[in-house]
Amino acid sequence: MTPLIIDTDPGIDDAFAIALTAASPEVDLLAVTTVFGNVGLENTTANALRLLELCGRPDVPVAAGADRPLVHPTPHRASEVHGGDGLSGAADTLPKASKDVDGRHAVALMADLLRTATEPVTIAPIGPMTNVALLLALHPELKPKIGRIVAMGGSAKGGNTTAAAEFNIWSDPEAAHRVLAEEDVPTVLVPLDLTHRCAVDATWLERLAAGGTVARGLHALTPSYRATYRRVLGIDGMVLHDAIALAEAISPGILRTTACPVEVDTSHGPGRGATIVDQRRGRNSHRRLVDVALDADVTELGEFVLSRVLR
Ligand code: BDR
Ligand code: CA
Repeated sequence: MTPLIIDTDPGIDDAFAIALTAASPEVDLLAVTTVFGNVGLENTTANALRLLELCGRPDVPVAAGADRPLVHPTPHRASEVHGGDGLSGAADTLPKASKDVDGRHAVALMADLLRTATEPVTIAPIGPMTNVALLLALHPELKPKIGRIVAMGGSAKGGNTTAAAEFNIWSDPEAAHRVLAEEDVPTVLVPLDLTHRCAVDATWLERLAAGGTVARGLHALTPSYRATYRRVLGIDGMVLHDAIALAEAISPGILRTTACPVEVDTSHGPGRGATIVDQRRGRNSHRRLVDVALDADVTELGEFVLSRVLR
């Protein structure tokens, strides 16, 4: 079992990512750490605790981390997509948490877990990369304990928050720059280019609604998120961004990656938060490379996620 830490801002697709992980025997979920993002830190932390309760994993520690970006405050969150509570206004439909949040800061918990780990740990950031950037900055000695970072974020084709930038990267471009462009931990980046192609459809959601407690609990979180995708992408379905990244964390190679240098625009112009993915052949040998997931068997992925959350 690969030890795994999820760093998250739940978030409806984060909810699917957590449930997928909790149902996957290939990984040992060591902790869920939270960050500001889709909504504020208080909500993302409360949501993480309730989601683990829904999944029957209240034993997994939850620690709260950054409540704002490293350098420049962001002007808004994503409550228009995820609801004011981060879960379509339905957080209260989830079981109440039976455990309290861990007393440590998210970065301290991650550091403690890495220090004692006997196998390389996968870290899956599926929100702004603030906690992970802080971890790498504060504890460079622990980098060899990280097997892979598998992150959802960025785009090679344009953004969802601005014309150029994807939400997680846009939320803290300086942190993302540190993780993606300046560090050297093996990293897989799962961008919008792929997650949009993996959107699930109405039939998938019907099968989810007919499932057990976890599946029905997740389905209850989806109506307004689904309405958003009807509005912005014109589809009857929704995008499971973060769950697609977790599929790769759980089953390495389920996504097809291309090694590319990735830069993050930290300027204050219209490109702020954009990821510049250099896909030119033969120009990359001397630069830090990130494995960018640009392809997958989309049907297989949908079944992978659904079959597990239906368990
Ligand atoms: C990312 O932004 C958030 O709204 C989602 O949870 C996902 O992590 C997609 O751009
Ligand atoms: Ca997220």
